[in-house]
Amino acid sequence: MLRDAHDRTIRDLRISLTDRCNFRCFYCLPNGEPPLARKDTILTFEEIVRAARVFVSLGIEKVRLTGGEPMLRRDIVKLVQQLAELKPALKDLALTTNGFDIPQKAAALKAAGLDRITLSLDSLDRDKFIDITGVDGLENVLESIDAVKAVGFGPVKVNAVIVCGRNDDEVVDFARFAREQAVSFRFIEFMPLDSGHEWSRDLVVSGREIKERIDAVYPLKLRQASRGSETAWKYGFADGAPGEVGIIAPVTEMFCGACSRIRLTADGQIRTCLFSTIEHNLRDLLRSGASDDEIAEFLEHVTLQKEPRHQINGEKFVPASRTMSFIGG
Ligand code: GTP
Ligand code: 5AD
Ligand code: SF4
Repeated sequence: MLRDAHDRTIRDLRISLTDRCNFRCFYCLPNGEPPLARKDTILTFEEIVRAARVFVSLGIEKVRLTGGEPMLRRDIVKLVQQLAELKPALKDLALTTNGFDIPQKAAALKAAGLDRITLSLDSLDRDKFIDITGVDGLENVLESIDAVKAVGFGPVKVNAVIVCGRNDDEVVDFARFAREQAVSFRFIEFMPLDSGHEWSRDLVVSGREIKERIDAVYPLKLRQASRGSETAWKYGFADGAPGEVGIIAPVTEMFCGACSRIRLTADGQIRTCLFSTIEHNLRDLLRSGASDDEIAEFLEHVTLQKEPRHQINGEKFVPASRTMSFIGG
């Protein structure tokens, strides 16, 4: 069992497959810095699967594949197939993507054993979408959402990072989209993880404000009294319309107390928090001939060092040692 020093059990592993991305999202990787990880430092599929197997033996139940853009990793379907062999101890295998390449691969991913897909959609307006992501990709993402639903991945989650002056005027449109498309639309507060270092408190639209703006047009009903280790408060529509609204407010309503997450970067470093300033080198251990027991011991030891919480609101906030494009959300 992976327990930290703050009475939290770690059950969710997020694996970044690459630090490359083909989008240039304002809130993540605006300038498209060249990838840092080199080919020989990127974990092979064999190494990823071995690490995941040891994690699962220690009680990890959810694995989410992220990036950069994970679909850029060649043969990702094969990796999904190999990870799916860790079921049923592994209960949930998911992917977070910007939608690239999904229409072509959705069916193969499903057949390989992927359980869920989360997509990003930061504007419903073509020009604004280009402004935010740097790519003329709105149609492609909409097509991806259709494809993901058609193949039977459900319930589909759609993420939007809400940034003041960029897309906060679309909050109600996003909620309407959730109703029309019967998806879970998640509104995320902008966190200081962008490689452009443009984050400022003024750009954060609080979860409470987002909820109030939606509620004024489409009254919302809280779905659950407690959210466990999940990031989102989930709301249904009071009029019974399909779809769901998720409010993720890490800046104004920190949820670290119930955090169950640990991360593995594409180059094999363990991050115990999204905002970690240090990493733990699993790659070297994997390549040193260590046994599974030694790897398990290392992971248990590393987990004990998990940070109690982020310090975004502290006076001495130190930015994470890597930006979101390396960590993968
Ligand atoms: P599931 O919970 O498996 O459904 O994963 P998901 O990626 O669809 O949703 P999740 O709620 O885990 O992540 C959505 C967004 O929440 C991410 O893109 C991040 O912006 C934010 N987020 C996720 N995990 C954390 C975390 O551990 N800390 C903080 N501060 N934010 C997080
Ligand atoms: N703040 C909040 N969420 C972010 N993401 C990326 N960068 C940020 C940020 N600065 C999230 C987006 C995207 C996922 C991969 O990571 O929701 O969908
Ligand atoms: Fe967990 Fe760190 Fe995210 Fe807080 S900021 S929820 S401790 S990963």
